Amino acid sequence: MNHKILILPGDGIGPEIVTEAVKLLDALKQTGDLAVELQYADVGGAAVEAHGSPLPEQTLALARAADAIVLGAVGGPKWDSVERHLRPEQGLLNLRAELGVFANLRPALTYEPLAQASTLKAEVVSGLDLMIVRELTGGIYFGQPRGVRTLDDGQRQGFNTLVYSEYEIERICRVGFDLAMKRGRKLCSVDKSNVLDVSVLWREVAERVGADYPEVALSHMYVDNAAMQLVRDPRQFDVLVTSNMFGDILSDLASMLTGSIGMLPSASMDADGNGLYEPVHGSAPDIAGQSIANPLATILSVAMMLRYTLDMPELAQRIETAVARVLDQGLRTPDIQSAGTRVVGTGEMGDAVVAAL
Ligand code: IPM
Ligand code: MG
Repeated sequence: MNHKILILPGDGIGPEIVTEAVKLLDALKQTGDLAVELQYADVGGAAVEAHGSPLPEQTLALARAADAIVLGAVGGPKWDSVERHLRPEQGLLNLRAELGVFANLRPALTYEPLAQASTLKAEVVSGLDLMIVRELTGGIYFGQPRGVRTLDDGQRQGFNTLVYSEYEIERICRVGFDLAMKRGRKLCSVDKSNVLDVSVLWREVAERVGADYPEVALSHMYVDNAAMQLVRDPRQFDVLVTSNMFGDILSDLASMLTGSIGMLPSASMDADGNGLYEPVHGSAPDIAGQSIANPLATILSVAMMLRYTLDMPELAQRIETAVARVLDQGLRTPDIQSAGTRVVGTGEMGDAVVAAL
């Protein structure tokens, strides 16, 4: 049986990096390692241009029918000032919400040869292996009401709503605990319960769920402290679980521990493990079209897809090993270059991973 994979290149460097992921999938298909059927659709700004919507009906229909989705990135200066419903980011947010992919896994793993590429000292990041579990379909990103209103005095006021229901907190915490059980059995729940009522409930639910996981050491941390601790001593963490916006911010921070945001993959899964796989980085319009973007985050996202949705952990591991090998060989895209390495373009990096497989 063929797995149906939907490919959504998106905007900016999206098409370039996704090409390398497709190269890899095609190679695995040719060697008989993977039975896949690829389909393509537009999302984000590309979809606005072609269909007048950042998430066209046909894209959503294909996404629902697919076994898994590989997405590049969305957004760009061209659409910075369009109405919200036409913004490329809205396409991605709607896709996440429509698919119900509430669990976003963002691993931050330092590949040894890249420890030097981090802006932090190598001895702080060397050996780092943490996982951020970000709630993806709730919180302030989706809470109603939201908008900009005009007050009686004529002042305009912007507002968003931070809401979490118990079931939303519970299910994301379970994902965190389940992952912690398979890893180092430590879970840190990140909140702002010294200020936010939502966070008080979050902490209470995390504790309650924790009772089902006596083997996992549960701790709690305020988000500001978590940001500081991630830079001070990131290796103290195993799994972190947090809300949508905190996870957005902390995962960008964590990416730089690994050397480059161009290295961070992600998986976004629903309750059945079906998912959307995308690099953590954005569309990087400043370097789009130059074939210098790092395709490794997208390639590693394919590995996550094999592990979490297609249940092929060995093949996932082979891809991860191939990436490690290419880095060992000294090949680098510009974002991760350092003295004594060989700088290559997007395509050459993709070719090297396929060759290393
Ligand atoms: C991410 C991105 C998105 C988010 C944007 C593009 C909507 O920053 O995946 O981290 O905020 O979730
Ligand atoms: Mg982000």
